[in-house]
Amino acid sequence: MPNHLIEPHGGALKNLMVSNKRAVQVKELSRDWPSWDLTARQTCDLALLLNGGFSPVEGFMTRDDYEGVCQDMRLGNGILWPLPIVLDVTEQVASQLQPGTTVALRDLEGTMLAALHVEEIWQPDRNREAQQVFGTTNTEHPGVRYLLDQTHSHYVGGKLEGIAPPHHYDFVELRLTPAELRARFAALGWKRIVAFQTRNPMHRAHQELTFRAAADIEASLLIHPVVGMTKPGDVDHYTRVRCYQAVARHYPKNTALLSLLPLAMRMGGPREAILHAIIRKNYGCTHIIVGRDHAGPGSDSSGKPFYGPYEAQELLREHEGELGIRMVPFKMMVYAEDKDAYMPVDEVPEGMTTRSISGTELRDRLAKGRDIPSWFSFPEVIDELRRTYPPRGKQGFTVFFTGLPSSGKSTLANVLITKLMEIGGRPTTLLDGDLVRKHLSSELGFSKEHRDINIRRIGWVASEITKNSGIAVCAPIAPYDRIRKEVRGMVGPTGGFVLVHVATPVEVCEQRDRKGLYAKARAGIIKEFTGVSDPYEEPDDAEIRVDTTELSPQEAVQSVILHLEKEGFISLAE
Ligand code: PPS
Repeated sequence: MPNHLIEPHGGALKNLMVSNKRAVQVKELSRDWPSWDLTARQTCDLALLLNGGFSPVEGFMTRDDYEGVCQDMRLGNGILWPLPIVLDVTEQVASQLQPGTTVALRDLEGTMLAALHVEEIWQPDRNREAQQVFGTTNTEHPGVRYLLDQTHSHYVGGKLEGIAPPHHYDFVELRLTPAELRARFAALGWKRIVAFQTRNPMHRAHQELTFRAAADIEASLLIHPVVGMTKPGDVDHYTRVRCYQAVARHYPKNTALLSLLPLAMRMGGPREAILHAIIRKNYGCTHIIVGRDHAGPGSDSSGKPFYGPYEAQELLREHEGELGIRMVPFKMMVYAEDKDAYMPVDEVPEGMTTRSISGTELRDRLAKGRDIPSWFSFPEVIDELRRTYPPRGKQGFTVFFTGLPSSGKSTLANVLITKLMEIGGRPTTLLDGDLVRKHLSSELGFSKEHRDINIRRIGWVASEITKNSGIAVCAPIAPYDRIRKEVRGMVGPTGGFVLVHVATPVEVCEQRDRKGLYAKARAGIIKEFTGVSDPYEEPDDAEIRVDTTELSPQEAVQSVILHLEKEGFISLAE
């Protein structure tokens, strides 16, 4: 390795991949080993363990390292390390393991990626971990939510032998490992390199900021976006990478390089900033840009920020000497209208008008198909974002009717489908209760468990239709609030979701009794019948409530149509 580049963390760049010969041997031996299918988070962590991005860590942490990291940000050997890198498994798997066991770690397709030589298995106190690492146990913090709700109960620590790095088929040429990036820097003759960490699309302000940061310290720039896991709800990495590629063309020749980082972010603010610095040091960078609320998850529901805006900078400054990689603090760039130029917010002369567009405002402009000014972003970036986030009139959506049997759901759903087809423009699908029970859920009954499975299936199909710009109209009873909310959570991020409560009173439904099922339920012939012998939980989050007692189907559907138009999903204009 060229010796003019920065030393990796801990002194040496780890490479946990074994030789081909050993890999063959390990694969043979693995026939007798237990297996663990890695989660998405674990796969990201494994990638950086195997390629040395997490140097000097050589495996999933053992208890000593874990406790030291949680309490004092130190590995057992005293080296600075801010966040636990642990392998969590179920209690059932943990019970089959003991020190000395080797586990085959596999990807989703079953390919073995690494062998884990188990040293320790323990049950962590995850609340304590959350408090120590994130400074809170509030599950509105995405890192805490993942830890407390999605992490398995037991941790397994031990060294790794890498067989194959996790495979990626997208942007292959941009996924350089620390060793590859170091070799590239050496070949380019780059010595001072400043890394820019990001999980968002880059606009003009980011380009100006990174350009200035690099120019000020006479360094070259590494645009090093995270493409592993970021904050839920972020712009997907495919779109972002196309945006970064466009932005990368706006730097002077041979001054900036784009490479992708397969990190799973924890949104851990100050501690995560230290991890970002360590990783960039391992990838050969001498400097890292650290901004306002770096790697922060924002605020909780009461509006209180989880971290102070400059806490990450302060913590990194405290450890800068020991880390070796230097921090370039981020100055917020704003657009000065009079000068038609960006400038750091602290250099704006008094009285000068500045402009900026927040993330929320940008999303709103995209949703409504409104103008996005060229001072804000590059036209190629705006085009990419518009492709991914078409205006509401081109997005898919789901209308989800819920209500008692015979409340009128199916009739309304059929009328709505007809009206939407009359308007045209998008493919429409009806997921009526009876239809679904026939085609998707024929083996299910009406216990709570089976009803939940049924509704989850409808939600999944609706989310696929919505994601692909279609319209799904669902009309099951869906008597349980929790599962309806789960469906909203599945569909919402893919397009629109409108819950319609068909609130026709049970007496009216029973009087109608179109299929004669109320009579059978009263006679005890049908068990667990909604409205008679099974509960219906009224929604508190319906966008629309219609009682069909006194309304014609057309009148009831009109309120849905008007709502869809108001929200911009359909246009009734000629
Ligand atoms: S659920 O709870 O959402 O899964 O129910 P769903 O799939 O919409 O039910 C479809 C139709 O099944 C008939 N049916 C029953 N409904 C409720 N409870 C019991 N036990 C039951 N047994 C059969 C009922 O007619 C449902 O259709 P609708 O159109 O709602 O009347």
